[in-house]
Amino acid sequence: MPKLTIKDINVRGKRVFVRVDYNVPLEEKDGQIVITEATRIVETLPTLRMLIEQGGKLILAAHLGRPKGKREPSMSLRPVAIRLADLLGCNVAFVDDCIGEKVEKTVGIMKPGDVLLLENVRFYAEEEANDAAFSEKLAAVADVYVNDAFGAAHRAHASTVGIAQVVANRGGLCAAGLLMERELKFLGEELENPARPFVVILGGAKVSDKIQVIDRLLEKADALLIGGAMAYTFRLAQGHKTGKSLVEPEKTDTAKSALAKANQRGVKFLLPTDDVIARPVKTDKLDKKGKPVMDYQNVRVNTDMNCPDDDAGLDIGPATAKTYADEVGKAKTILWNGPMGLFEDKRFAEGTFAVARAVAEATQSRGARSIIGGGDSVKALNKAKLGDKVTFMSTGGGASLEFLEGQVLPGVAALSEKGN
Ligand code: 3PG
Ligand code: MG
Repeated sequence: MPKLTIKDINVRGKRVFVRVDYNVPLEEKDGQIVITEATRIVETLPTLRMLIEQGGKLILAAHLGRPKGKREPSMSLRPVAIRLADLLGCNVAFVDDCIGEKVEKTVGIMKPGDVLLLENVRFYAEEEANDAAFSEKLAAVADVYVNDAFGAAHRAHASTVGIAQVVANRGGLCAAGLLMERELKFLGEELENPARPFVVILGGAKVSDKIQVIDRLLEKADALLIGGAMAYTFRLAQGHKTGKSLVEPEKTDTAKSALAKANQRGVKFLLPTDDVIARPVKTDKLDKKGKPVMDYQNVRVNTDMNCPDDDAGLDIGPATAKTYADEVGKAKTILWNGPMGLFEDKRFAEGTFAVARAVAEATQSRGARSIIGGGDSVKALNKAKLGDKVTFMSTGGGASLEFLEGQVLPGVAALSEKGN
């Protein structure tokens, strides 16, 4: 059953609790916190504008980072309120809590069309525990519940599930926002019966992250193109040497069954035939997680299916990039999830950028529908300045992946059905 959306309801004069995903990247510059990427905020604007026009009182809730139930000043949503006000072109009030008296008082004096952003819901451990009492407290200021946080819809938390149940039990409506509706349309309906050929490009580090998506898409796609470190687990499964490439030796059986399934279903399953390799060397520097930063030396193209013992594969090679681009050029529907290599380093970015250009070209010149499954592939497209040349880019990371796996997202399941 399709879910109720904000187009189906009228919120005039009502207190509308809107869950958004404002989990955006922040950086400290000259003692100031700056938002480095605001797409997730921008993408909620149509929903907010529609609700403001209807005359709702908008109470926005979101999480930022993983503060694990503690007040963590670096994860405050205050900078987001400032940016949102800027983008929306109106005042956005901010309360440094998401439940309690302060929130209720502020909401009490709101007028139709006013916007309020609450503080990070994950400052309370009860949020992630989907605690019933906490859900009630959030719902204290909600007549209507709207979920526009597709990126967090795979989490069964108080602000994505618990509150919706409280509102629904009271006879209130729980509707999808316009972004949520678009995400479900493009990642869901559009891929149910895709125009053919349907070409899927999958990359990223691990087979284990993508195997369920591979398995499901083998039922639908005409061709699957594999890149990223994940390709090396397939190579290992085929008996090749992978040197120091990132591999999951315990997943070779999984890789073998995917290859067998592709063969049996007549799905073209392409693996890289050449790659860009280099010698990884540890430096003295540590990254944010405390792991040594790697340097890569002796970068070169390798056309042997075996990787030398001391080298690692870090990108697809030029021949593979050409083959993949040709395949993408024939597609009517394209789904892309995961980069082809370590594109953050420009020596290993060309494979990902070649695929990005091919996807943009197929969309712009040949009318293909291109859907980008979120996370790093979105980052790569934006880096290649091609973000506006594709049909749809998801704002979800984990959520897109789980949805593409065919899982029911708890945040979506909790919404009211149309016609009820
Ligand atoms: C995300 O960025 O993936 C979403 O906002 C969900 O965040 P989480 O992975 O910390 O639950
Ligand atoms: Mg995540």
